[in-house]
Amino acid sequence: MCGIFGIITNQDNISLGKVVLEGIKRLEYRGYDSCGIVALSNSELHVKKDSGKIDEIQKKINLADIPNNSKLALAHTRWATHGAPTRKNSHPHLDCSNKIAVVHNGIIENFLELRKMLTEKGHLFESDTDTEVIPHLIEIKMKEGLNFKDSVVEALKLLTGAYAVAVCHADYPDSIIVARKESPLVIGIIEGKSTYCASDIPAFLPLTRKCYIMDDDELAILKAGEVEFFDLISNERIEKELRTIEWSIDAAEKGGYEHFMLKEIYEEPIAIRNTLKISEELLRVFANILLSAENIYITAAGTSYHAALAGKFIISKFLGKHIQDIECSELETQLKGNLQKNSVIIAISQSGETIDIIEAIKWAKKAKSVKILTITNVVGSSITRSSDHVIVTNAGPEIGVAATKTYSTQVLTLALIAVSIAKIRKIISDEEIIKYYEALTGIPNIIEKFLEKNVDLIKYIVNNLEKNMNYFFLARGISIATAKEGGLKLKEVACRFIEGYSAASAKHGPISLVREGFPIIFIAPPDETYNRLVGNVMEFKSRGGRIISVVVESDEKITKLSDITIRIPQPADKYYNLFSPITFMPALQLLAYYSALAHDLDPDKPLNLSKTVTVH
Ligand code: AGP
Repeated sequence: MCGIFGIITNQDNISLGKVVLEGIKRLEYRGYDSCGIVALSNSELHVKKDSGKIDEIQKKINLADIPNNSKLALAHTRWATHGAPTRKNSHPHLDCSNKIAVVHNGIIENFLELRKMLTEKGHLFESDTDTEVIPHLIEIKMKEGLNFKDSVVEALKLLTGAYAVAVCHADYPDSIIVARKESPLVIGIIEGKSTYCASDIPAFLPLTRKCYIMDDDELAILKAGEVEFFDLISNERIEKELRTIEWSIDAAEKGGYEHFMLKEIYEEPIAIRNTLKISEELLRVFANILLSAENIYITAAGTSYHAALAGKFIISKFLGKHIQDIECSELETQLKGNLQKNSVIIAISQSGETIDIIEAIKWAKKAKSVKILTITNVVGSSITRSSDHVIVTNAGPEIGVAATKTYSTQVLTLALIAVSIAKIRKIISDEEIIKYYEALTGIPNIIEKFLEKNVDLIKYIVNNLEKNMNYFFLARGISIATAKEGGLKLKEVACRFIEGYSAASAKHGPISLVREGFPIIFIAPPDETYNRLVGNVMEFKSRGGRIISVVVESDEKITKLSDITIRIPQPADKYYNLFSPITFMPALQLLAYYSALAHDLDPDKPLNLSKTVTVH
C-alpha cells in the first residue's frame, strides 16, 4: 500500500509545491518509507525524493520547492514491497530519456520478466522496484509511434498484478494519465480550474468535495479542471458519476470507518489477496530449508506469536517434523547451550522492529550457524538485516495498535509455505493440493461474506455481555491459537480479562471460576477435535456457563448447546478447517472492537500499549 497524489491546474494564485506536499502528507498513513515529487516546467521533469518520513525529508530537501511556473505535479509516499526503503527505490521512477515519470501503488507480479526483456533491449534501471518497468514500457510504446495515451494503455496491458498509476510526460504539460486495477484511485475536480488524482479522498478533501471514484480497468486523462474516462480494455470513452463527499477529513482518512481498527478488519480480504501473490519460488525456498533442517523453532511476540502457533500447526501437518514454538523474549534463555547446528528459526514480526525478536535472532545467529527465515510486513525493517531469507506479507501499513489484517496475512503466509512443503514432498495427491489452494483462495470471499452479514449479531452479543469483566475463550487443536488471539484482542482494546485456553486443560483449574452466566466463547470448527469439544461445551454449560460459539454455517451439535452462535460461512471440510484461524478471526476482532466502543474506549489507542514495542 502506497499513496499517490497528483495535480494539474491553470490557476496562478496557488503554491503548487505546498498543495502537493499537503496532499501527500494526508496520505502518509498509507506508507512512510520514502516520499518523492515530480513537477513539470519548461518541458523538463524536476524530481525530489528521499527515504524516510515526509517531515524528515522535508527538513532535508524541501519537497515543496518546485519551479514557480509549474502547473503539473505528481507525488508518492511509499510502503515498500519490492526493494528496500532507500532513495533510489523512492518514486517517481523515470524512463531512460527522463521524460516520462510514474508513481505507482500496487504490485507488478511479472516485473522480473519485463525487466529482463527491457534490459535486453538496452534499458537502464536505477532501482530495485517493480514500478520502474512501467515508464520504460511506455517509452518503448512511444518510440513505436503511439501517442501518449495509447502508449500508457499498451504498456499497462503488459502488466500482471495490481496498480494505480499516475503518469506525466515532459512534452505533454497539459495532461496527467492515470489508471487503476485492484488498487484505489480517486479523482477530485474544481471544474475549469484544477484536477487531482489520489489514492484516497482525504488527499484533496480540503480543496474540493467533488470527485469521481475510478473502477478497475479504467483510465483517465486529467487536464486542468477537466477529466475524460476510458475503458482500459476496449479503449472506449466512458461516463462516470460525479459525487459529492460529505465526510470530514478525519473520517475520510479512515475510509469512512470510525476507527483504523475497523477499517483494517475490513481490509483483510484485500490484504489476503495480496498475500496470495507471494511468489511460489520464495515459498519453495522457505519450504526446502525447513525440509532439510534438523531442528526448527518458531518465534514471535503477541499477536505474531499466536500466528506462529497456528502456523506451526499447519506446517507440521505436512512437514513430518516437530516445530517448537518459543516466545521471542525467551528464545535465548531456553536455547542457550542447546542450539544445534543445522537449526532453523522462523521469526515473525509485523513491524520487524520489536526489540525482543531482533535481539533473539541476533543472538541465535551469533551463537551457531543457524538459518533465520523471517516473515514481516515491513520491507527493510531491522529484523530483515539479521535474516537469511525474508517473506513480506503484503498487508499494507497497519495503523491501529491492535494487529488485525497482519495476523491473517502472517497465518496465510505460513499456510502457503505448508502447502508448498506438501507439494515438494508429494505426500498428498495433486487433487488434494488443488483443494487446499481452493480453500486458501476462497478465504477472502468467506471473510467478505461474514463481514457483510454479521455486524448486528456481534453488536447484539456485545450488548448482552457488556457488564462482564471476565471471559474464557476455549478451543482444542489448531483453534487454541484462535482462542488466544481472540482473547488478546478483547483484552487489549476492551480491557476485559480473558483466559484464552485449551478447552481440555480448562477443566484442570480455570473451570473453578465458572458461575451462572459466566461467558465462555468456544471456537469450534468441525475438525478432528470437534466431538471432544462438544463434551467440553457440556461440562461448562452444566455449571451455568453462558455459551457463545463460533462455528461453521452447517453446524448442529454445538449450536444446540449454545446460547448464541456466530456462524462462519465456510464449507465444513478439512481443507477449510485447516485455515480456520484466518476465517474465524474477523468475528473475534469485531467482538473486541464493538466491546471497546461499548466501554467508551478508543480501540485505536489501547491503554498502556504502543504499536511497536522497542523496550525489553
Ligand atoms: C497485537 O494486537 C499487539 N499490538 C502486539 O501483541 C503485537 O502483536 C506484538 O507487540 C508483536 O509485534 P510485531 O509483530 O510487530 O513484532
